[in-house]
Amino acid sequence: AIADSTTAAEERLAETRAFGKLILFGEHFVVYKVPAYVGAVAAYTDCAMELEETTEGDAASPELEIVDNRPAVPDYKVKKFDEAKEAINLVFKHLPMEKPCKIKLTFGGDLCCASGIGASAAQVVSLARAIKQTVPKYSNMTEDEINAAGYEGEKGYHGTPSGIDNTAATFGGLLKFQRTDGEPIFEKKKIKDPIKIVYASTGLTSSTTEVVGDVRAKKEKDPEWFDGLMKEYCALAEKGEVAMEEGDLTTLGKLMDENHVLLQKLTVSCKELDDLVVAARAAGAIGAKMSGTGRGGLMLALTPTDEVQDAVAEALEKAGAPQHRDFAPQFEVQQEETEG
Ligand code: MEV
Repeated sequence: AIADSTTAAEERLAETRAFGKLILFGEHFVVYKVPAYVGAVAAYTDCAMELEETTEGDAASPELEIVDNRPAVPDYKVKKFDEAKEAINLVFKHLPMEKPCKIKLTFGGDLCCASGIGASAAQVVSLARAIKQTVPKYSNMTEDEINAAGYEGEKGYHGTPSGIDNTAATFGGLLKFQRTDGEPIFEKKKIKDPIKIVYASTGLTSSTTEVVGDVRAKKEKDPEWFDGLMKEYCALAEKGEVAMEEGDLTTLGKLMDENHVLLQKLTVSCKELDDLVVAARAAGAIGAKMSGTGRGGLMLALTPTDEVQDAVAEALEKAGAPQHRDFAPQFEVQQEETEG
C-alpha cells in the first residue's frame, strides 16, 4: 500500500511538469513581435500543492507557504526571490481560489535554475498545472489556458514578457514563436535530424526586467539603430528556419554566430558569455551564441557529433563554466515522436 501511494504521488507530481528552454534564435527581438525559435529541454520543474480552506482572507490572494527544492546555480534563488513571489501571486490572481485558503507549494524537479534556461516560466507553468490538478473549478483547463496562466506569472519577472518562455515550458518541442497584439502565434517545427547542442551557464544571474528594460530604452533613444539590427535579425532568422528544416548544420552554425554578433551590438552579451562562445568554437563547435536574457546567464554551442560535444563540454568547463555539468547540458533538439 505504501509503494502504491508513493507511485500515485509521483504520478501526480509528473503531471505538473513544465520544461526549461533554450532560445536558438531571436531573444530580445522577439519582444518586438518578430519570430523566434526555441527548443524545450528535457529537464523540468514540478509543483506539489496542498490546500487547506480557512474561514478568513481573500480567495484571490491565499496565504502561501513556499518550499523551493529546485536545484540552482549559487545566488539564483536569492536574487530571484522577490520576483518569484510576485510571479506566484500573479498566477493566483489570474486563477483565484473558490474560498479563502492556506496553500503549501513545493517546487522541485531536475531543471537547474539559472538565467537563460526559462526557470521562471517553468515554475509558473508547473504551478498552473498544480492548480488545475488540485482545484476542481480548474480541472478542465486546456493547455492554452495553462500557457496563459504562465504568461500572467511571467509578468512578475518582467513587465513585457514575449511569452516565448512559458509557451516552451507548456508545450515542449521545437517551436517557432511570435508575439502579436493579440494571442501569440506558435507552431511546432519538424526537423529532419536532431540538433545537438551543448549549453553552459556563466553562473551569473541577470535580471530580465533590467536587461529587457535597458534594450527598450536604447531602442527608444535610437529607433533607427534598433530597426537596422532588427532587419538583420529577421533576414537571419528566415535563413535559420530553412537551415533547421533542411538539417544544414553548417549554415545553422554560421547563423548562430551572426545572431551572437547582433546580441553583442544590442549590448546584452558580456565578457563571460563571449569567452565561453569563443572557447566553444575553438573546441570544434560549428556555431555558438548566448541564449536568453544575457549579461550573464547562458550560452549554447552547435555540436554535430558526440566527439565534438565532449570536446566542447570540456572546453567550456575549462573556460570557467564549472556548473555546466549540473545541467546535463548535452542536449538534442529533436522532433517529437508522437504527433498531436
Ligand atoms: C528571455 O528568455 C527572452 C527575452 O527575449 C525576454 C522575453 O522574450 O520575454 C530576453
